[in-house]
Amino acid sequence: MFTKKQEFELLTAIKGRGEIPLKFAYLGEGAYNWVAIAQERAKKGGINLIERKLLSSRTEDFLRKYEGVGQLNVIDIGCGDGTPAYPILEKLNEKKIKFNYVPVDISEEMLNLAEKKIKKDFNVNSDKVLLDLDSGQFSDKIYGLRKESTANLLLFLGSTLGNFSDMNRVLSNILESMSSEDYLIIGMEMTNLVKAEQLIPHYTAEIVQNLLKFIPNKIGFNDSNSENVVNWNANENRIEVKLKLKKDVGVKVGSESFTLKKNELILLGRSAKFTEWTFTKLLSDAGFRTELLTTSEDRGYTLSMIQPTRYSV
Ligand SMILES: C[S@@+](CC[C@H](N)C(=O)[O-])C[C@H]1O[C@@H](n2cnc3c(N)ncnc32)[C@H](O)[C@@H]1O
Repeated sequence: MFTKKQEFELLTAIKGRGEIPLKFAYLGEGAYNWVAIAQERAKKGGINLIERKLLSSRTEDFLRKYEGVGQLNVIDIGCGDGTPAYPILEKLNEKKIKFNYVPVDISEEMLNLAEKKIKKDFNVNSDKVLLDLDSGQFSDKIYGLRKESTANLLLFLGSTLGNFSDMNRVLSNILESMSSEDYLIIGMEMTNLVKAEQLIPHYTAEIVQNLLKFIPNKIGFNDSNSENVVNWNANENRIEVKLKLKKDVGVKVGSESFTLKKNELILLGRSAKFTEWTFTKLLSDAGFRTELLTTSEDRGYTLSMIQPTRYSV
């Protein structure tokens, strides 16, 4: 399931900083754990549904920037199963604007799921891009997509940015892959930071735990030797999920085996939380200008359409 590079990255992360990076949870069959979460949130009214409603209500405004464009490359970063892009794709269909769907993800399975679904529902071309957003800019994958009268629209939906250990690095990697005419629509859940502890049950739910435990269970952890602990880190403004070892645990990654000690804590996931102000500041500090910002009526979700800042000389 892991490439050799990913194996080394996982070993280094566990031994060096006590972390199993969440991005590995989406590899292989792990992709289906995410699909189960997204489907439940879409049905029961979680952030996926809130984002979809907000995106549907503002798609016309977002697409106004592309008037006169013959064809659009919709570049769906961290695509999941592709569902979050539907409001945009449906509107493009309605307006008879041709588009190409370009899912970008670390997980081959996710890419395949998104590609299959979108090809079936929209009968369009799809060029999937397998890459790790942590590992540098990817202009080589995007630049070539632009042909005459073709434009790029990038999407980074589902509050995914908040899961990364270094959000600035990911934003820089995206920014350095965009030209000054490309736009990025980024979706983020907004949180009342004073009441953030109330979010903890979202992360203890079984369906979320299945995703979080996927890699630990593959490398030697189980319910009898460890337990998951969820807490709110008020200094970093983020939810953290950690694995607490109930006894010494033998861990095996690839051909390497080692032991972790009782009571050690291993970070499995983080979810940074924002207010409108801290989110806008993060984007602006990373070098983006905001073209359009829209927030749901309950102030719980924000979509921001941004572009690399470029000053004329
Ligand atoms: C929380 S899911 C969100 C999926 C989708 N955008 C949605 O809103 O339903 C995160 C997605 O980002 C992908 N992902 C996570 N870390 C990544 C990384 N470092 N590089 C590329 N893709 C990554 C996962 O495979 C998954 O598809």
